[in-house]
Amino acid sequence: MSNPFKNIQGETAWRAPSNIALVKYWGKYGIQLPKNASISFTLNNAFTETSVKYVAKTTDDKQLDINFFFEGQENPKFADKIQKFLESIIPHFPFLPYFSLEINSSNSFPHSTGIASSASSMAALALCLTDIENALDGGLRPHEFFEKASMIARLGSGSACRSLFPYLSVWGKHTTIPFSSNEHGIPFHDTVHPVFKTFKDAILIVSSDEKSVSSRAGHALMDGNPFAESRYQQAETHLTNLVGYLKDGNLDKFGEIVENEALTLHALMMCSTPSYMLMLPNTLKIIDLIKNYRSEKGVPLYFTLDAGPNVHLLYPEENAAEVETFIRESLLMYCEQGKVIYDQVGKGPVKIK
Ligand code: PMV
Repeated sequence: MSNPFKNIQGETAWRAPSNIALVKYWGKYGIQLPKNASISFTLNNAFTETSVKYVAKTTDDKQLDINFFFEGQENPKFADKIQKFLESIIPHFPFLPYFSLEINSSNSFPHSTGIASSASSMAALALCLTDIENALDGGLRPHEFFEKASMIARLGSGSACRSLFPYLSVWGKHTTIPFSSNEHGIPFHDTVHPVFKTFKDAILIVSSDEKSVSSRAGHALMDGNPFAESRYQQAETHLTNLVGYLKDGNLDKFGEIVENEALTLHALMMCSTPSYMLMLPNTLKIIDLIKNYRSEKGVPLYFTLDAGPNVHLLYPEENAAEVETFIRESLLMYCEQGKVIYDQVGKGPVKIK
């Protein structure tokens, strides 16, 4: 075999943010395809930066040749995951076996916080690979570029496909959302009230311990869950309604759906077989305090949860000062070593090299 990319080399680097779902994706089929459509805020401060150096091989070896470094160090566990992922996407990127790749990745947030980095890391890697393909073959228009990168990110970690777009993203076919697709995320901000484009997300770290049940296992348990079908219908309705509230800037109704989604996600875990629970006593304590604060002060502060015990506090930018005082005075004592990550809705990924 002579290498069709002989003498070609280069480097690309991207920063991609994490995202937090408002209507949750929980339950999948096929190759990372969602059972229901979901929508998320794209975050800003929690991000991964990944660079990929590529040098055309001079040998005929068709094995993938990858050197992976996480925060400047070799990391065999992550390297193994990346190797398997890259092998699985060769059909989408046939150039991969012709190059030696050096991948460097780092997160803006400490990895001991229990914040999942799979969304930002898979999005950043997918952007680098799509960028290399584009440099070699050319021809992708901007929306096609992000669509392909989103599809690739989805294959790495489902919800990662929503980390590619500014402000908000929808993933999954939905009857009322044009161009929505199970294959990739789409941008969703044209019909969103400005209040949501600067929304804050303070992530309260209740525990940074590794989850007792992975998201992969959790999705799989939806297959035997007696409430699965009604859940998928509920998600469809929630998204239809939320789209209207996002447009109108209706904070109360926004919060009602978002909080219901978070509790439904955890209720589904509790009624799976086997059942399990990822919320901790301090998760419930924080939720209770948020509800009391909201009704006493009339401040539009809402919570959501990922598949874990940490609590995301969502609030408008104009309420930041009072909410952050409340966090410091009344909530930090329920967090692990007082840990909180202050984040907000962001403009999506950026190319850094
Ligand atoms: O992308 P996964 O397979 O890690 O699943 C994540 C699912 C939730 O974070 C719980 C919800 C979501 O839509 O992000």
